[in-house]
Amino acid sequence: MDTPKRYTVTAALPYANGPIHLGHLAGVYVPADVYVRYLRQKGRDVIFICGSDEHGVPITIKARREGITPQQVVDKYNAIIRDSFAEFGISFDNYSRTSAPIHHKTASEFFRKMYDAGQFVEQESEQYYDPEAKQFLADRYITGTCPRCGAEGAYGDQCEKCGSTLSPSELIDPKSALSGATPILKKTKHWYLPLQQYESWLRQWILEGHKADWKPNVYGQVKSWLDDGLRPRAVTRDLDWGIPVPVEGAEGKVLYVWFDAPIGYISSTKEWAEREGKDWEPYWKSADTKLVHFIGKDNIVFHCIIFPAMLRAHGEYILPDNVPANEFLNLEGNKLSTSRNWAVWLDQYLVDFPGKQDVLRYALIATAPETKDNDFTWRDFQNRNNSELVAILGNFVNRVMVLTHKYYGGVVPSSQHLNEADREVLDQMRKYPSILGDSIEKYRFREALSEMMNLARLGNKYLADNEPWKTQKTDPERTEAVMYTAVQIAGALATLCEPFLPFAAAALAKMLDIRPLTWDEVAQAQSIVPSGHRLGQPALLFEKIEDAPIEAQLKRLEDSRLANIAAEKAAEPQKETVSYDEFDRMDIRVGTIVEAEKVPKAKKLLKLTIDTGIDRRTVVSGIAESFSAEEVVGRQVCVLVNLAPREIKGILSNGMILMTEHPDGRLEFVAPSRKVKEGAQVR
Ligand code: 2FM
Ligand code: ZN
Repeated sequence: MDTPKRYTVTAALPYANGPIHLGHLAGVYVPADVYVRYLRQKGRDVIFICGSDEHGVPITIKARREGITPQQVVDKYNAIIRDSFAEFGISFDNYSRTSAPIHHKTASEFFRKMYDAGQFVEQESEQYYDPEAKQFLADRYITGTCPRCGAEGAYGDQCEKCGSTLSPSELIDPKSALSGATPILKKTKHWYLPLQQYESWLRQWILEGHKADWKPNVYGQVKSWLDDGLRPRAVTRDLDWGIPVPVEGAEGKVLYVWFDAPIGYISSTKEWAEREGKDWEPYWKSADTKLVHFIGKDNIVFHCIIFPAMLRAHGEYILPDNVPANEFLNLEGNKLSTSRNWAVWLDQYLVDFPGKQDVLRYALIATAPETKDNDFTWRDFQNRNNSELVAILGNFVNRVMVLTHKYYGGVVPSSQHLNEADREVLDQMRKYPSILGDSIEKYRFREALSEMMNLARLGNKYLADNEPWKTQKTDPERTEAVMYTAVQIAGALATLCEPFLPFAAAALAKMLDIRPLTWDEVAQAQSIVPSGHRLGQPALLFEKIEDAPIEAQLKRLEDSRLANIAAEKAAEPQKETVSYDEFDRMDIRVGTIVEAEKVPKAKKLLKLTIDTGIDRRTVVSGIAESFSAEEVVGRQVCVLVNLAPREIKGILSNGMILMTEHPDGRLEFVAPSRKVKEGAQVR
């Protein structure tokens, strides 16, 4: 498309059944926000549209589990999601909800228009029905034994144990999750979108039309769907939560969540237009509008095949110009998982790292899974802050501010004595808006971010090469020229970092006391911060992140990992009964480890000297893989003191210390919860 007249940019509507996590941010919301902020800087007419996806079976399941209504579930998470996005600086023009009346109306009318035009196929099929609860059962509401691995509790659509995709009829001994009753098969009617009819058109539009400009991961997935052949897709469901199917004889049926959700982009646009007194239609119906959907890779088929087929069938709408879907972000080497709590939640991050929105934005853009899955680690986050944001960008700005205040009382010096080299640097600076813009318009946000940092590097190198702190005494004119030039670079950064780091950009503009220029002005302006302008006060743009908060995050993940292993591991069955007398014959005392050393040539063994209150004795213990000798000295432990002595690796071991084990095999001492006197009995 040549220069579009306006842009409609959408970000996938998140399900309102849980908070936003890093995977969502890196895959969808941060890149979308960078793109939109850039377009605004360019002065383009753009709207950024999102909202909560509030229908679908998982929401009804969550409600049932928590004993609340689906409406209460979505009210809760819609508020959490909306607030955390706002606090994180995701700059939507509108954030709606699919439970809003305007959406129900828009989606119903959309369906009705297609229905009236005969674009659906009606079909009866047999589906599972709960005779006690008197309702049809969504696949997720049927559980049974997995036909592949034999695990119990597999769902009608998937076995979580072995990961197989299932259909409800395959389950052995199916049960309704609503009542526990055995479901029966019952006839029901649904409406299907005959996708196969759109196949050749889709091939032409995407495979021929967008081979060059769609990302290879998106193009590849679409191609493999098309090569597999498309089949009719049901767009209605038997469910009591959703948008009622607006035709007669469809009582108890709602639109399939994936039919109504993308229409949510349109309803959210309408809501925006009503509030702002604008016309929504050009944003969805004008050929000179560029429509871009930001999504994660699990949404590709819906945005590249099904929704476009709906838009085309409806007839009045434009199609997406691009769908720059990202791959997945992993966390510390493992797949993100909500159910396993292997995630970093945005609302929690905002509490743990107040005022550090930009650090996370930066780390996520820098590691964005643009072409393949990528890994987020807390150490990388810390390094990116400390050795990039603080050491490169923050350091440059700080030097400029401090020196300008020191030499000129904060007033930008004269540009009269610029030499060739200074002009050269300013020319280089003026190229950055177009360098960054080219990358952003190609959806290469990592590349754009690293170019932005290159401008800060250029500034640092320029200062280091010209050493104003040396010339200040010997050559005031030279110093003025250098400081003037450096201030210009800081001014350019206030504009050019904004799409990525909006909070730092605002802080920098405040420090410089300027109204930041627009993107194109940075490329063209003679002067960004003119001579004679008085700067504001210096302040730190970024602060170092110490080890402690990082370790706290790692510990939280470690706790999740252990809890997951524990949840999967059943406890050992109970041992045979013993009499009290048998138990009482064991003499267990509290002791303190006073010395410890590794046993040579034995990986697992430590030789401990223990003050048992009775004596000091040697115990050889198999704990060396969990503890170092140094860290156990001084610890209180429980010792079975009357265990018959035994020689281990040539050392006489006189007793045994009591240990327990974490699910992953790491050992843990069993010890009194507060210090007690050595020799105290354990009973
Ligand atoms: O995958 C998801 O989280 C969906 N709720 C995305 C919907 S995008 C659009 F179609 F609404
Ligand atoms: Zn299975």
